[in-house]
Amino acid sequence: MAIRNIVTEGDEILRKVCRKIEKFDDKLKELLEDMAETMYNSNGVGLAAPQVGLLKRIVVIDVGEGLIELINPVIIEKSGEQREVEGCLSIPGEYGITIRPMKVTVEAQDRNGNYFQVKGEGLLARAFCHEIDHIDGILFKDRVVRMLDKSELN
Ligand code: NI
Repeated sequence: MAIRNIVTEGDEILRKVCRKIEKFDDKLKELLEDMAETMYNSNGVGLAAPQVGLLKRIVVIDVGEGLIELINPVIIEKSGEQREVEGCLSIPGEYGITIRPMKVTVEAQDRNGNYFQVKGEGLLARAFCHEIDHIDGILFKDRVVRMLDKSELN
């Protein structure tokens, strides 16, 4: 396992649409493990493959309820609304308020290629939306209704 470098805003890879994963091999497992390690090392709750410089539809998330690996994830259902402060490991030190669904259902493949569905509410729903946006080249700043200024950060 290895910690990978996190790409920051301004790098054009963060703006590209990622490619679907077709091969569920050992290289994929190694990448998933590196992504998780990189996320934990930065105290993040989610990380998407473009953030480590790869145009792949892969996301890892842990909001404190255990690691979730998502390959080729798609949001298939959403409901409700939440307004919360959001940040991004690729945009260090900046935070803003976004509007996201309160509940989402995601369909994805696991590391072996098997399809599954997972539901998330609150922070987990927000993490699903944020990370799945990343694999389509979308950053939270594109969704922000108001950026916080320095006096609001503590
Ligand atoms: Ni992010």
